[in-house]
Amino acid sequence: MSDTLAHADPIDGKAFAAGLVERVSAAVVRLKAKHDLVPGLAVVIVGEDPASQVYVRNKGERTLAAGMRSDTHRLPETTTQAELLDLIAELNADDGIHGILVQLPLPAAIDAAAVLDAIAPDKDVDGFHVVNAGRLAVGQPGLVPCTPLGSVMLLKDVLGDLSGLNAVIVGRSNIVGKPMAQLLLAENCTVTVAHSRSRDLPALCRQADILVAAVGRPEMIRGDWIKPGATVIDVGINRVPSADSVKAAEGRTRLVGDVAYAEAAAVAGAITPVPGGVGPMTIACLLANTYTAACRAKGLEPESLAA
Ligand code: GUN
Repeated sequence: MSDTLAHADPIDGKAFAAGLVERVSAAVVRLKAKHDLVPGLAVVIVGEDPASQVYVRNKGERTLAAGMRSDTHRLPETTTQAELLDLIAELNADDGIHGILVQLPLPAAIDAAAVLDAIAPDKDVDGFHVVNAGRLAVGQPGLVPCTPLGSVMLLKDVLGDLSGLNAVIVGRSNIVGKPMAQLLLAENCTVTVAHSRSRDLPALCRQADILVAAVGRPEMIRGDWIKPGATVIDVGINRVPSADSVKAAEGRTRLVGDVAYAEAAAVAGAITPVPGGVGPMTIACLLANTYTAACRAKGLEPESLAA
């Protein structure tokens, strides 16, 4: 792709996330000094999924680096639902733990929805509990899922006021698509949620001033689906064979988003790259949510973490 074609500004999620983590860390220092309170995050992982192991280790390290307490509970694949629920009940009752995250996916024998709904809503730093989904829908303070929260922070950083903009979200998951729709509605966008059964998806996408791709299909959204100058948020993280056929034959892979980046960058005004766009915001927002949960647990107003 020549430079003359690609004119979108890449949105530097990595740099923005680093700034947010710095603000959280500074707020944690003040919380400790003024109120003798150290936010604590418990992460629970069941089984040996290698990607989940990497994510969980990373979350633990990042939590400690932000000055918080980090407890990781590693349970065997054979853990029963009752054992997992017992651990969650213990963590719910632990005053030193302000955030609980159960890493997904869980083994098939465990009812993930029942486990997530056993987490005390005020410790649900993933924002997946039905009570937090309800709070978001009606505009009450709660805990908001990290990926959509981070995506909206990036959008506000790039565009400022989002009022009146047409936002199209491709994907209707409980974790990204639906909460993203609620957050963008709260920012006064006109929101369309498109999905696999939507008719003429390319035409819907072309109406978007803000296009959010959260479908989990590598490079599905093409350049000619994008309105010139639109802001594109690519939530997808897909591992595909290397573009180099020799490397691909060796089993080498690369990460791509749900958007065909080079094509899209030639049309969009701004776009998040994969990696380095939305991804780094997710963990930064997890730390922010843990800080927020700790403050609220003690009846304190969290400091603003805005840039
Ligand atoms: N697995 C992959 N992403 C996530 C996440 O954001 N939260 C949880 N709990 N599990 C995940």
